[in-house]
Amino acid sequence: MNLTGSLGIDGGFRFQYQNLMGEEKITGDDLEALRPAMEQAANAVRVMRREGFSKAHLSKDGTPEHVYFPRQAYLEEGNPNDEASIQRLEELGEKWKDSVDAAVFIGIGGSYLGDKVVFDLASKPYWNQLPKTERNGYPQIYFAGNNVDGTALQGLIRHLALQARHVKRPLHIQLVPISKSGTTMEPLTSFAALISYMRAHPEWFSVDVTAVTGLDEKESLLYRLALENNWPAFGIPEGIGGRFCILSNPGLLMCAALGYDIRSLLEGAREMSELCLTTEGADNPALLNASLKYLAAEKLGADIEVLMGYGDALQCLGAWYVQLLAESLGKRLDRNGNTAFYGRTPIVAVGTTDMHSMTQQHQDGKRNKVIQFLEIEKPAIPLVVDNPFPQEKAFGLYAGKEMDVLLKAALTANETALTEDGRLNARYVLPELAPRYIGQLLMFLMYSIAYEGELADVDAYDQPGVEAYKRIMKAELAKA
Ligand code: PA5
Repeated sequence: MNLTGSLGIDGGFRFQYQNLMGEEKITGDDLEALRPAMEQAANAVRVMRREGFSKAHLSKDGTPEHVYFPRQAYLEEGNPNDEASIQRLEELGEKWKDSVDAAVFIGIGGSYLGDKVVFDLASKPYWNQLPKTERNGYPQIYFAGNNVDGTALQGLIRHLALQARHVKRPLHIQLVPISKSGTTMEPLTSFAALISYMRAHPEWFSVDVTAVTGLDEKESLLYRLALENNWPAFGIPEGIGGRFCILSNPGLLMCAALGYDIRSLLEGAREMSELCLTTEGADNPALLNASLKYLAAEKLGADIEVLMGYGDALQCLGAWYVQLLAESLGKRLDRNGNTAFYGRTPIVAVGTTDMHSMTQQHQDGKRNKVIQFLEIEKPAIPLVVDNPFPQEKAFGLYAGKEMDVLLKAALTANETALTEDGRLNARYVLPELAPRYIGQLLMFLMYSIAYEGELADVDAYDQPGVEAYKRIMKAELAKA
């Protein structure tokens, strides 16, 4: 295999994997031995892209369910996104611009995390505190419904009411409940609380609703409400599971709300998808990533993966990946019904912050981890460290340097220390936080999970383990 230590898209996303390889790590021979399984995985994913089905994948009710996540990148009628759906989103963004004061996105799990990732990567720091002109007229963004927390919700309502009192007019609020099933407890109850309060206080709020849900009246209570109340509704298609929906309406609506370039995001996703579908073995970055993680688990017992993004904005991307990995690969049974207990525990870390906490464990704890770094080469807003204390020699080490140079030095130091101790680590690199590269990264991560599901022979698209608590909770609520 062509093991160069680094691969990706020219001028775009790169996967640097050399620190996963070596005599006491994963060898070229290990990968050669896995070659037939890698070929099988590549074929299975190509079939899934073409036919929209993955081996043995069934919906919750036991019927075959499509797997369409790669189709999100291709604008075509019948796909999750087409020209008309993108135009509708862009028009919505234009309509909200200058007219909406605040949009409250109300969802949980896959119906929250993707939006939060887009918000963190696409908005400027302290977005809600910026004057509207600095936001180019786009609304403030809030989140609700990603927990059952009355205190937090009361806090949000009070915060918005105080703003209205301050500006002495009702705030124009868009509530955006997002729920594929349209029946999930957390978003539905938060939505109900918000809309009741806001309708009861027209002196502070003028409230509109835009729903994002499965467009099936029988299944989705939210869709029924949208029809009855004439709220605009955006669909979440069958075949797009919550954790894979960031590149369709739920995630793209956040792009629209921020004036973010949806087309470049999808272009990047398409570039990665094409690369993954047309290459084999070690020339396919997501397949190689999946194979190395699979071997790290099977051969070296690496059952923890830490995604450590360098920069504050990358924290939620880690949380999104936690869901993607945990729900997709954490499986009791393989696809033949045999006990597998497959999966890795995903952990989010942020550099440099967690170098002052978790890195101790990464460097000296059990050798059961892959540390996966994420680097953004060019900072969005460069800042040079000043030297207000010229008399202090120690300060001279930092003065005159860009903050980003310090960040990179910390990342390289962390990586080198782990490598010198034979610890498994790898680096994803994006040239900058531009929509196109983010699209490449998101698609790369989704394909990586799909390939690993194939290698481990587990269904990466269901989540039967969450049904156990749901049954118990329903019974508890009926009693309460
Ligand atoms: O990935 C998933 O399927 C889950 O995390 C769901 O997104 C989450 O449970 C929310 O479901 P819904 O969108 O139906 O409200």
